This record gives sequence, structure tokens and C-alpha cells, in this order.
Amino acid sequence: MTDISFSRYRKNDIHGVSLYPATMIAPVQHIIMEKIFSEDNIGSVYDPYHGSGTALFEAAKLNEDCNIIGCDINPLANLMTYIKLKGVTKKIEDDIQLLYRFIDEAPSYDFEFPNINKWFKPDIIYSLKKIKWAIGKIPSKRNRSFFWIVFSNIVRRYSNTRSSTYKLHIRKIFDIDSLNDNVIRDFKSQVDKGYSKFNLKIKNVTLLKGDVLEMSKKIADRSIDLTITSPPYGDNKTTVPYGEFSSLALFWIDQKDLELEGWELENYSKIDRMSLGGRKRYDITEYGRGLLDPYLAQISSEKQRKVINFFADYFISLDDICRVTDKYIVMTLGNRTVDRVNINLTEITSKYLEHHSFKLINTLSRDIPIKRIPKIISSVDNQSVSSMNEEFVIIHSRL
Ligand SMILES: C[S@@+](CC[C@H](N)C(=O)[O-])C[C@H]1O[C@@H](n2cnc3c(N)ncnc32)[C@H](O)[C@@H]1O
Repeated sequence: MTDISFSRYRKNDIHGVSLYPATMIAPVQHIIMEKIFSEDNIGSVYDPYHGSGTALFEAAKLNEDCNIIGCDINPLANLMTYIKLKGVTKKIEDDIQLLYRFIDEAPSYDFEFPNINKWFKPDIIYSLKKIKWAIGKIPSKRNRSFFWIVFSNIVRRYSNTRSSTYKLHIRKIFDIDSLNDNVIRDFKSQVDKGYSKFNLKIKNVTLLKGDVLEMSKKIADRSIDLTITSPPYGDNKTTVPYGEFSSLALFWIDQKDLELEGWELENYSKIDRMSLGGRKRYDITEYGRGLLDPYLAQISSEKQRKVINFFADYFISLDDICRVTDKYIVMTLGNRTVDRVNINLTEITSKYLEHHSFKLINTLSRDIPIKRIPKIISSVDNQSVSSMNEEFVIIHSRL
């Protein structure tokens, strides 16, 4: 097994501008694709769970003429990936000056969303509203999108939610009181440092915003040379709440610049509930059930239900990935623990793909270096239970 730790990688690149939970490590995806691109003709790359767009951006860097196709249910992920692939316009420096002037000139106006005063202090709301107004006045959609992504970092940084978790969890009063309003200064600093990194302009980009189990029906059989992805490892609520993490920013960003289906902002956890395994939808496939049974036998019936819901969706997604992919499937995966039982998602996935005519050609592994999901995340019978601490990349090719 090859070690791919990249423990010195610090995200000083474009990926550090689009803050998102549980992202892939860009150089890992880069070296894997570099090898595949050098050995085979890769004209299309698909990430069904693109998140902040790490893999798609790295693919586009390797071949700007590549067809880039992605899907994600989260509109913030969609916006991040769009701007990374499309880049800012030639007029970005003029637009930055215009933006800063608009921030100074912003009038006072009404703006609210549920619990805004719980999650933000009045002085912070005042400054965020100025920036929001100013971004809305910029004519270029691409430049606005870049500003929104920086803005979303600032929204989260200056909200009353703790930075130690991706869930919305109110800070201690003392921490809230000591939060000084440097919103505009920090926003400008991130804009000034970030804009030149958004310099790719990829022509052939299709980003599907929605549930991949529905959206992938738009993708033809064997039309993708390489599928490269990192799916959720379990239902969002008990693993990584991507939706809850994004919700404050999504409330702030102008809706005209988001791909919304209409339900996303119904409440703070709606996106997580609509994500993979968030609710019972399908029955689990027979072959998949066989792979899961040894684990299910060891966990409580209440947790079994959640695990089954997740894997029912997950196996349908794998069926679909096999249907659309012509050559290679590369997946970054972690093995999570439920009731002290380590569910070997990596092995389950590999076996499933092999059963569907995709042969395992390599497995790489790395320790997860910077994690906000603590290594010990839950307790059973007052004993701590360790969560994911290593991730794996499996590489399969069609037989
Ligand atoms: C591990 S993250 C991907 C992170 C990404 N590789 C990156 O580097 O930023 C998994 C993603 O799957 C998305 N997701 C979960 N359920 C989904 C579904 N049913 N359809 C589409 N996307 C979904 C989440 O919104 C999240 O962005």
C-alpha cells in the first residue's frame, strides 16, 4: 500500500479559499490523476459528490480541454466549484475597487432570516449587510461568485457558532462578547490574497445541483472516462453535517446567485436530511446486503436502521457510477465506527465495484492530518469510541 500522507500540505492554494468540511487533499488527487492521464486518454472526468471541487479543479489543471462533470446537493458546494472552474474575469481588479467603494457607500436596509440574532451580534450583522449589499451590485456573476465564497468564510468566522465543530453550536457568552468586528478588514484581506488564484477558465463544465441519485440519470452509459470522488461515509447527521455547516452562509448569499431547488433553506438541517442516507428511500440491493450483514449483526437495531438507509442509497450510487464510467473509478474513503464496530467502507466499496466489473488496481492510504471531527467522537457504555483516523484511496479500472 503506497503512503500518500502529504502531511506538509497547508492549503495555501485555491483550495484554502473555499472552506468546506472533509475536503480531499489536492496533491493526492493530483498525483493519482497525473499518472492516469499520462497512461491513458482521459477526455472526461466526473465527481458525483464534488463538494468544494478539489478533484474537478485538479483534473482541469491537468487538462483544460477535459469535459468536467460534477454533482452536489449543497448549493454552497455548487457555487465554490463553479467559480474555481470558471475563474474570475479580466476586470476583477476594477471590480474589487468598485466593491470596496460600494461597501463604504452601503445604505442601511432591512435583512433577516430565522434566528439571525442568535447566530450574529448586531455590530457584525451591520458590517455583513454592507458587504452583502456591495457584492449584489457587482455586474459580473463570476466575480460576484468569488466574492460570495470569501464572504461565506467571513460569515462563518464571525458567527456565534463554535469553530471546533461543523454543527451549529453556540459559543460561550464570554467568547461571543470578545468577538471584535473586523469583518470588513478581514473580508478585504481575503479578497486581496485570493483573487489571483481563480485563474482557470474551463469551457466544458457541467455542474448538476441536486441529489445525485436523481441527477445522474442525465449522464449517458459509459460516457465518463474517469470518475473520481469522495462520497459521504455515512448519513450527514451522524458523520459530517455539510448542510448545517453551509446554512448560515446560504442565508446570507443573494439567492439569485445560488442554484436552489426551493427546499434548501426550509431549516438549518434540511440539506443534511436530503443528503445520502438522510432518510429511508430505497431497499438495499441483495449483493450489498450480503456485504453489510456481518457488520449489522454486531450493532444495535436503532443504529442498524441508519446504517441500512445509508448503504441502500450508497449502493444505488455505486451502481450508477459503474453505469456511467467507461475506464477508471477512484474513490477516497474512510472507515467509520458505529457501536464500536468499524465499518470497512473501503473494503465494502472495493468488493462492490469488483462485482460490477471494475477491478481493484491499487489502494493508497494516509492519516487524516487536520480534523475537526475529533478522533474520539462518541461514547458507548461510558467508553470512548474512536472514529476515522485514516483514509484510503482505491483505484479501480474496468475489466
Ligand atoms: C466528502 S464530501 C466531498 C468533498 C470534496 N471531495 C471536496 O474535496 O471538497 C461529500 C459531498 O457529498 C455531498 N452529498 C451528500 N449527499 C448527496 C447526494 N444525495 N447527492 C449529491 N451530493 C451529495 C455533500 O453535500 C458533500 O459535499
